[in-house]
Amino acid sequence: MPIHTSANFWVIETRYTAYAFGLNEARLLTHCYWGARLPFVKDYPAPFNPTHWSSPDGLHHFVPEEYPGYANTKYIDPILKVTFADEVRDVVLEFQDFKTTASPQPTLALHFKDSTYPLQLTLHYRIHEEYDLIERWVTLENLGTDSILIERAFSAKWTLPHGDNYSLTHLYGRHMDEFHMQREALTPGLKIIESRRIIPSHRAAPWFAIDRDASEDHGEVWFGTLAWSGNFKITAEVTEFASTRISIGVNDWDFAWKLMPGQSFVTPSAISGYTQNGFGAASRSFHDYVRDELIPHSKVLHKILYNSWEATLFNVDEVSQSNLAEIAANMGIELFVMDDGWFHNRNWDNAGLGDWFPDKVKFPNGLDGLIKKVNDLGMDFGLWVEPEMVNPDSDLYRAHPDWVIHFPTRARTESRNQLILNMARIDVQNYLIETLDKLLSENNIAFIKWDMNRGVSEPGWADAPGDQREIWVRYVQGLYHVWGTLRQRHPNVIWQSCASGGGRADFGILKLADQIWTSDNTEATARLSIQEGYSQFLPANTMEAWVTDWGKDLVPLEFRFHVSMCGSLGVGGNLLEWEQADRESAAGYIRLYKELRHIIQFGDQFRLISSQKNDYSALQYVSKDKSEGVLFVFRTHIPDPFNTPIIYLRGLEPNTLYTVSGFDQPRSGSAWMNSDLKVDLQNMQSKVLRIQRLTS
Ligand code: GLA
Repeated sequence: MPIHTSANFWVIETRYTAYAFGLNEARLLTHCYWGARLPFVKDYPAPFNPTHWSSPDGLHHFVPEEYPGYANTKYIDPILKVTFADEVRDVVLEFQDFKTTASPQPTLALHFKDSTYPLQLTLHYRIHEEYDLIERWVTLENLGTDSILIERAFSAKWTLPHGDNYSLTHLYGRHMDEFHMQREALTPGLKIIESRRIIPSHRAAPWFAIDRDASEDHGEVWFGTLAWSGNFKITAEVTEFASTRISIGVNDWDFAWKLMPGQSFVTPSAISGYTQNGFGAASRSFHDYVRDELIPHSKVLHKILYNSWEATLFNVDEVSQSNLAEIAANMGIELFVMDDGWFHNRNWDNAGLGDWFPDKVKFPNGLDGLIKKVNDLGMDFGLWVEPEMVNPDSDLYRAHPDWVIHFPTRARTESRNQLILNMARIDVQNYLIETLDKLLSENNIAFIKWDMNRGVSEPGWADAPGDQREIWVRYVQGLYHVWGTLRQRHPNVIWQSCASGGGRADFGILKLADQIWTSDNTEATARLSIQEGYSQFLPANTMEAWVTDWGKDLVPLEFRFHVSMCGSLGVGGNLLEWEQADRESAAGYIRLYKELRHIIQFGDQFRLISSQKNDYSALQYVSKDKSEGVLFVFRTHIPDPFNTPIIYLRGLEPNTLYTVSGFDQPRSGSAWMNSDLKVDLQNMQSKVLRIQRLTS
C-alpha cells in the first residue's frame, strides 16, 4: 500500500515521488513534502510549527496549509469560503479521523468538521502509483438543518518547496490559435488563469506546470490539471515570506452553491505529479494516464477518418457525401464523418440546431442510404451534432423558449446565431437523451463529433431549485449525465469532443470522449505549434488532425500529411477537387500511417526541437517496448544560410543497435541519443524517419 499513515502524519508514495502532510501542534493540516521519493518514511519532514508569533498577521502566513478555508487571519489565498445561515462567513476546520482503502486504487480520506457549525469536509486522495500521479478532490456535507452557502471550494492547493524562484507555464490562446505555451517567473502576489465561459475555452487550458530551471529533459517540474469541462480557476501565489503555492478548482467567479441539509457537494478531481526529468517526462506521465485510465476505449487504435466540413460546409446531401465517400474509401480512409448541415432545416448556421432528425429535403429517405453506401465501401459512418445548442429558428426553440440559459428581463445574446440549452434542467437532459438515443439506435453510427460552439452569456436560471449561480456546475454535471447515459447505451460508439476546435479539451471530457478536435485551424504550419501546446498534457491518440486544403499553395501535401500524422490522422480537404496524383500520394501517406500509428498513438512522445520556438522542429515517438520509433522533422520558413541543428533522439535502449531510415549504418541507441543526427531540409519540407531496433 503506497500510503503510510499514523495518527497525525500521512505519506503518499508513487514509483518515484512522494507527498506528505500532517497535523502541526495547532492541529492544522500542514503540507510537508512534495518531491522525489525518499528511502525511509522517517526521511520526510515533519509538519511545520511557526515560531514567528509577533507578526500582526498571525501565524497563517507561515503555515503551508493543505486545505485552507477562509478564517481568522488567513489572508493568503484560501481555497474554501462559506457563509453559514447566521451570516458567519468563515470556516474553522477541525480534524476528526481518516480512512484508507486499497482497491481498485489506493485512497486516503481525511475528515474534518467545522468547530461550531454542522459542516463536514473530506479531503480525498487517490494514488495512481504507476503514473506518479495523485488525484485529489473534496466532499462538503451539510449535517445540519439550515442551508450553507459555498462560495469557493477548490479541489486542491499545493505548496512548493520553500522558495520564490519558480516559473509557471500555462497554455493560452483563442479560437483557431489554441495552446500557446507561456512560461513566466512567479513573483509575489497572485496570478490567475481562469475560464468564465462555461467551457474551459480556447483562452486558457486547465493545466499548469511549475519548474525551477527545468528543460524538456531535465529538472524539477510540478504539474497538474483539473478534470472539469466548465469554468475553472488556477491561482498561483507567492507570499511575502517566499512561499509558493498553487491551487485549482471550479471557478468561484459568479459561483455559489446552496448546500441543503443532508446534501453533499463534490468537487471535480485535480490530478498532479512531480518529476525530476523535465517537461517531457511530465507530459508523458499524463499521456499514459489519459490513455490507460481515462478515455473509454483505451486499447483501440483510432481509425483514419474523413470529415466533410471544409469540403461541403452545410451543403450536405446523399449525392455530395457519397461522392466524397467513394474517393475517401479509395484512399484507404476507414471512417466517413458527415459534419454539420444534415438535420432539419440546416442550410446555414442560422437555423436547425435542436431538431436532431434528418432534413427531409436533403435526405428524403433518412440517413440509411448514405450509411449503407459508406458501409458498403468498407468504412464506418460518423455524424456531427451540437446537442447543447439551439437556433431561435428551430422547432425546439419555438416549443421551449424557456429551455435556454437567459435572464427573463434581458435580451438573449446570440453568438453564431445560437443560444445555449440549460443542461442543468432535467427536461432538457431527458429531451437530449431521448433524441440522441433514437438517432443512435435507428442508424448504424460508429462515431459522433459532439460540438459546442459558443460561450455563455446572461447566465440566468430563473426556476433553479437552489442558488441560480449553481448553473456553472450543474450545467457541466448535466452534460456529463446526458453524454454518460448515451455512452452507456451505445458503448461502442467513439465520441469526439469539439468546441469550435479545442475549446473543451480536458480530463473531464476525456472520460466520455476518446478524442478532441484540436483546432478549427487546419493550416499545417499553425497546427505544428497548436499540436505541441496540446501535447503538454494530452496524448497524440486523442488529438484529431485533418489534412485539408488550407494553405495548399504554400504547404506541400506531404508536409500537411506529416503534420497530421503526428496525431490521430484524418482528412478534411475537398477530395472532389483533388488531382488524381494527389489522391494517390494521399493513399501512400495513409498506408504509411497505418504502419506507424501504433507507435504514434500508443508510444512515448519526445518533443526534440520545439515547433513553438523554432521554424525547424523535430518530434519523436517510441514504442513502449523500445523496439521501434518514428521521427518527424519539419522546416517551415527560414532564410538561408541555415545551419541544420543536431537532433538527439530519445527513449532508445542505449546499448542496442538501431537503424534510422536515410542513414546507412546502424548505431547504438546511445549514439543516436548523443551525437550527430542531422536531417537537412528545404523551406516547407518535412521528413518522416523510421527507427528500428536490430534483432540479433
Ligand atoms: C465548429 C467545428 C467545426 C465544424 C463546424 C460546423 O466550428 O469546430 O469543425 O464542425 O462547427 O458548424
